[in-house]
Amino acid sequence: MIIFRLSLFYAAFAAALPAPGRIGENMSQPFSQAEVTPWNAGAVTEFAIHSSCNATQRRQINLGLNEAVSLAMHAKSHILRWGNNSDIYRKYFGNSPSMNAIGAFDIVVNGDKKDVLFRCDNPDGNCDLQGYAGHWRGKNATDETVICDLSYETRRSLSTMCALGYTVSGSETNTFWASDLLHRLYHVPAVGQDWIGHFADGYEEVVDLATTNATLSTHDSETLQYFALEAYAYDIAVPGTGCPGNQQKHHGSDLAEPDASANQTSSTSTASELSSTTSDAPAHCHTHAGGELHCT
Ligand SMILES: *[C@@H]1O[C@H](CO)[C@@H](O)[C@H](O)[C@H]1NC(C)=O
Ligand SMILES: *[C@@H]1O[C@H](CO)[C@@H](O)[C@H](O)[C@H]1NC(C)=O
Ligand SMILES: *[C@@H]1O[C@H](CO)[C@@H](O)[C@H](O)[C@H]1NC(C)=O
Ligand SMILES: *[C@@H]1O[C@H](CO)[C@@H](O)[C@H](O)[C@H]1NC(C)=O
Ligand SMILES: *[C@@H]1O[C@H](CO)[C@@H](O)[C@H](O)[C@H]1NC(C)=O
Ligand SMILES: *[C@@H]1O[C@H](CO)[C@@H](O)[C@H](O)[C@H]1NC(C)=O
Ligand SMILES: [Zn+2]
Repeated sequence: MIIFRLSLFYAAFAAALPAPGRIGENMSQPFSQAEVTPWNAGAVTEFAIHSSCNATQRRQINLGLNEAVSLAMHAKSHILRWGNNSDIYRKYFGNSPSMNAIGAFDIVVNGDKKDVLFRCDNPDGNCDLQGYAGHWRGKNATDETVICDLSYETRRSLSTMCALGYTVSGSETNTFWASDLLHRLYHVPAVGQDWIGHFADGYEEVVDLATTNATLSTHDSETLQYFALEAYAYDIAVPGTGCPGNQQKHHGSDLAEPDASANQTSSTSTASELSSTTSDAPAHCHTHAGGELHCT
């Protein structure tokens, strides 16, 4: 009915103009275009948060995820700008080409976010265990990550970067929501693609990996976290200074240094941070090889 009336209208209108064929062509285009599905139809641009998360939990996870994306975005930008001219880049990735690390950060920023779910209902019961701040569900539900109550009490905003005693080398990577969630995202196959794994544990091993096996460093979860944190601290939080903490060249050499920072690797500076890292300590159960439980 509408089509019929439109074409009647066209016919009358076109007849009054000198080039009727052209008008008909142009006017018909929007109609045929509208039938073509956009190439990115169905794109998922937000991480999903399960209905088991209440309003405050959802809000904190959302803020944390936004910060994880900001952290990854800056890490990528730093590499794109400086490549291996960056001391921070070379410290963590050695001589490796920059594309792998760029991609590892970009997938968090721009990758499709379907098949990633955060939930709060403790379906596997692991949140009842002391020190569990969350876990990847592994074989039980490989797309799913559980966030436990301890996270809401201990994880910090990136706005506190370099404050409250935090240093990159002396503090845990899970001090911040951003890096903690980056780690958790890398366990989800849609993000980490079973390519990002755990090849080094802790700051010293991560720094060593850059020289012993730089190829592995660009897909090591902890290396990516440490790099992102240090780049963010140095470029954004305290520009030109950052908070790298005690820089040791080699394993064990820090003990030979006379200064007070000799305690850095085993201690954190403030009472609140100490309590958060100690309560997290038992949760350092990394049994990823078989896709199993991982806690932090
Ligand atoms: C029809 O489209 C062509 C190019 O797409 C344009 O050059 C022409 O001006 C259009 N004609 C009218 C009447 O809008
Ligand atoms: C959400 O759940 C947490 C943990 O059970 C609780 O502490 C918090 O008060 C709840 N928030 C709301 C808005 O109910
Ligand atoms: C930096 O990368 C370039 C290639 O882009 C390479 O030729 C050079 O050896 C690298 N330098 C270091 C110190 O890794
Ligand atoms: C780096 O690690 C990979 C994977 O484990 C291994 O195949 C390779 O031989 C290692 N390279 C060096 C120089 O250790
Ligand atoms: C190192 O830490 C211990 C407690 O963990 C403390 O007793 C000692 O004084 C510290 N040493 C320095 C040099 O800060
Ligand atoms: C998967 O579920 C089983 C049975 O409920 C549980 O024992 C196991 O800890 C769960 N795995 C993870 C990674 O939570
Ligand atoms: Zn892990």
